[in-house]
Amino acid sequence: MAAPRVTMEVGNDGVAIITLINPPVNALAIPIVAGLKDKFEEATSRDDVKAIVLTGNGGRFSGGFDINVFQKVHEAGDVSLMPDVSVELLVNLIEDCKKPIVAAVEGLALGGGLELAMGCHARIAAPKTQLGLPELTLGVIPGFGGTQRLPRLVGLSKAIEMMLLSKSITSEEGWKLGLIDAVVTSEELLKVSRLWALDIAARRKPWIRSLHRTDKLGSLSEAREVLKLARLQAKKTAPNMPQHQACLDVIEEGIVHGGYSGVLKEAKVFKELVMLDTSRGLVHVFFAQRATSKVPNITDIGLKPRGVRKVAVIGGGLMGSGIATVHILNNIYVVLKEVNSEYLLKGIKTIEANVRGLVTRGKLTQDKANNALKMLKGVLDYSEFKDVDMVIEAVIESVPLKQKIFSELEKACPPHCILATNTSTIDLNLVGEKTSSEDRIIGAHFFSPAHVMPLLEIVRTERTSAQVILDLMTVGKIIKKVPVVVGNCTGFAVNRAFFPYSQSARLLVSLGVDVFRIDSAIRSFGLPIGPFQLLDLAGYGVAAATSKEFDKAFPDRSFQSPLVDLLLKSGRNGKANGKGLYTYEKGSKPKPDPSVLPIIEECRRLSNIMPGGKPISVTEKEIVEMILFPVVNESCRVLEEGIVVRASDLDVASVLGMSFPSYRGGIVFWADAVGANYVYTSLKKWSQLYGNFFKPSRFLEERATKGIPLSAPVSSSSTSRARL
Ligand SMILES: NC(=O)c1ccc[n+]([C@@H]2O[C@H](COP(=O)([O-])OP(=O)(O)OC[C@H]3O[C@@H](n4cnc5c(N)ncnc54)[C@H](O)[C@@H]3O)[C@@H](O)[C@H]2O)c1
Ligand SMILES: *[C@@H]1O[C@H](CO)[C@@H](O)[C@H](O)[C@H]1NC(C)=O
Ligand SMILES: *[C@@H]1O[C@H](CO)[C@@H](O)[C@H](O)[C@H]1NC(C)=O
Ligand SMILES: *[C@@H]1O[C@H](CO)[C@@H](O)[C@H](O)[C@H]1NC(C)=O
Ligand SMILES: *[C@@H]1O[C@H](CO)[C@@H](O)[C@H](O)[C@H]1NC(C)=O
Repeated sequence: MAAPRVTMEVGNDGVAIITLINPPVNALAIPIVAGLKDKFEEATSRDDVKAIVLTGNGGRFSGGFDINVFQKVHEAGDVSLMPDVSVELLVNLIEDCKKPIVAAVEGLALGGGLELAMGCHARIAAPKTQLGLPELTLGVIPGFGGTQRLPRLVGLSKAIEMMLLSKSITSEEGWKLGLIDAVVTSEELLKVSRLWALDIAARRKPWIRSLHRTDKLGSLSEAREVLKLARLQAKKTAPNMPQHQACLDVIEEGIVHGGYSGVLKEAKVFKELVMLDTSRGLVHVFFAQRATSKVPNITDIGLKPRGVRKVAVIGGGLMGSGIATVHILNNIYVVLKEVNSEYLLKGIKTIEANVRGLVTRGKLTQDKANNALKMLKGVLDYSEFKDVDMVIEAVIESVPLKQKIFSELEKACPPHCILATNTSTIDLNLVGEKTSSEDRIIGAHFFSPAHVMPLLEIVRTERTSAQVILDLMTVGKIIKKVPVVVGNCTGFAVNRAFFPYSQSARLLVSLGVDVFRIDSAIRSFGLPIGPFQLLDLAGYGVAAATSKEFDKAFPDRSFQSPLVDLLLKSGRNGKANGKGLYTYEKGSKPKPDPSVLPIIEECRRLSNIMPGGKPISVTEKEIVEMILFPVVNESCRVLEEGIVVRASDLDVASVLGMSFPSYRGGIVFWADAVGANYVYTSLKKWSQLYGNFFKPSRFLEERATKGIPLSAPVSSSSTSRARL
């Protein structure tokens, strides 16, 4: 691939075309920024240049500032690696240029890309170009003047919405709002832009420097009111992140003291934000998610993914119908098989309801919904299985049933067909024992609801072939999931790592800590719901069954809480029967149910572990740590056993599968940020106070005492399942 560069060509009409070249999205890498400075200086000084058009190569303007630079800044801890763009390039060389500059945008102009375009004196766009400032998703704010120019072009409220929610708009909307001066076909883009630039030079069209506009800002008191509301809103929607309030502060600076003052404050605040843990965490997750698609010995050995056009789903229950839904939504034919027509009808109805739900919520057009439903066929036998490329089995958890189904599948399906199972607990080797197709048996672990949750754990055994793993990864991407390849163990990566989460929460309750205080502490930390609200949501029957699995698999580190049994005995089953630890009323948030307190007292009496018979006293911070450090401990086991390919895979899985806050970088990243040694010494202290449950694992102890980050690679000799 050619080096990133910026080119300039001067036409006979006196228009210099400056082009960004850095495929695939013309990211503004350091050499691109330097190239832009060079070319704009040259164009300014050349007598044969009357006007300038700035554009991107390959049908895309620019996807924004090169995120690799953030990573370098984080690694080096050196903010001076960030180039000075907002004043030197955007103000001095572009906006204040003596020659008019028109941005010709196409495909996308995001982040720094849109900021660059907004510094120009006019913007011409091709249809359906994506325009937005998503910087806040990386923990920073726009840093090339975007916080100042966007409100001046589209108005304050719209600009705040676009930045704080990282919402992009199309060029058509941009034209209505005043961000774009004209939308023209892709073929005409350059021609129109050149003429527009010449028109500005000849004063036939206005020469507008966005930073100097104030006409869309409204009065100072109006602006303050809008900002006040936005601050309140952000406090609710982004409570633990600093960049939202910072963005509003910077916008306000520009409104009160003028755009240039705003640009200076923006640069200063940007440099502060980029060094904070929030940005480190978000940038880490961004790269970690990309890294999941690189699996040693699978994606690097020259295999080509085979197409998967038709998929059979066995079992139309909750999981099966969710899985079928995501496939038809992404243009893959689905054959849904059930045991009788009653269940089949029920499964199809669920799929239809899933699809209709998306239409109701505005996430899908009616047309696309109809097309998706045409991709579905319900069946009661195997006659449609002759040409399926993949089967996903989602029937009830029963070894003999699954074994029977898999030996039938072996006969009914073509020899290349992937045989995937959605079992959450059963050993895959056992599932395939009665077949001679173990190389194509694989786990496809979706998270409920399967058509909503983004994570797909791909569970391989020692015998699963590289081709089959690669194919499932490819399908995973087509159905817009994030596939993470994991090894086989009870709970796989996420549920395994987080099994101590509910355990330690229940342990804390037995030690006398209030249930609702625990939930609230965990929510404040950043998970959407606490462990007991999660328990209500899953239902106590399911929770009891899941606990049993883990108790059986990891008896040395499971805490036997009587809580769930007591709740079940009292006729409660969580949200499903409207009787949980919380009360559920339509239209209002779940409220703590005071009538569970006697049950909790009974639970404490039965556990009988409160030191001296008195409830322990803990701070909110201790609650969070006593619940999450055991998760870190188990994560260490997951790393040590080689269940995940790399530590950052577990970070991604924890964020996408457990909704662990992405701005904390995922479970392992967070643990390293608070310090492995701190986690270790805390666990050790608690194990002395409250018993063996809190004992730190050997891996954690070793890393903590040697000062090695938990995320550092595991040497293969110490990996007990290195081949998986
Ligand atoms: N739903 C969840 O949240 C959840 C959680 C954990 C694990 N799982 C796993 O997902 C799988 C299915 O779960 P579910 O909740 O959808 O179960 P479910 O009971 O809702 O659905 C299973 C369906 O499979 C059908 N079925 C049984 N044998 C069949 C056969 N031979 N051919 C065709 N259809 C058959 C049943 O009639 C039933 O409709 C199980 O392996 C389970 O462990 C689901
Ligand atoms: C890849 O496979 C080769 C040959 O089977 C093996 O020697 C090597 O250790 C494997 N590498 C990894 C990273 O698993
Ligand atoms: C099947 O789907 C459910 C839905 O959450 C999931 O919990 C379960 O673990 C899945 N099993 C596999 C292997 O996909
Ligand atoms: C898969 O996990 C189960 C449960 O821990 C275990 O019994 C089985 O031996 C594992 N299989 C492999 C191939 O590691
Ligand atoms: C940590 O792991 C060790 C070893 O597996 C286990 O004995 C201990 O109970 C675990 N502690 C916690 C808090 O999960």
